[in-house]
Amino acid sequence: MKNLKKIIGEDEIAARVDEIAARINRDYGGEELVVMCVLSGSVIFLADLIRRLDMPLTLDMISVTSYSGDETAPSRLKFLKMFSEDVRDRHVLVLDDICDTGATLDEIMRRVHAMRPKSVRACVLLDKPSRRVREVEPDYVAFDVPDKFVVGYGLDYNGRFRNLPYIAEVDGV
Ligand code: IMP
Ligand code: MG
Repeated sequence: MKNLKKIIGEDEIAARVDEIAARINRDYGGEELVVMCVLSGSVIFLADLIRRLDMPLTLDMISVTSYSGDETAPSRLKFLKMFSEDVRDRHVLVLDDICDTGATLDEIMRRVHAMRPKSVRACVLLDKPSRRVREVEPDYVAFDVPDKFVVGYGLDYNGRFRNLPYIAEVDGV
């Protein structure tokens, strides 16, 4: 059993999701939105966030997996489930659990841009800015976290701990 240390509690998450939702509501001013959820880590954040959004919205789900690279072969993304919505001329908000190196978000944003949306922004629950290797900045970030492996509220370690209602650091990862 891994040692977990709680770093962000349920109440703190709920209060911050309220704030992020209020900002998104203000920024889009009632305009229709396509929320593009990156499976599976962002599903709990998605469920909590979209119930606080007041514009008409459509959900799309994508699933990606990354092969970690080295100096000769940078990490590559494989799309396990592709976009299904036609987002041309629509506002898109990409929702992910965490922006770490930025490789995932960078690639997704490029692909969404290529579909010529009216606008595209990114919202992440967690950001580890110290780990960034790609030039990508999420527009909405609930919490910055230090360079530690974190789980809970959707995030996993080897597929586990997604159901924790809070966010915790995992020892020795
Ligand atoms: P990237 O390095 O920004 O491309 O992040 C790739 C993916 O790795 C994220 O979408 C997460 O699914 C996963 N990831 C990165 N850091 C953590 C962590 O601390 N806990 C759980 N998953 C993580
Ligand atoms: Mg992910």
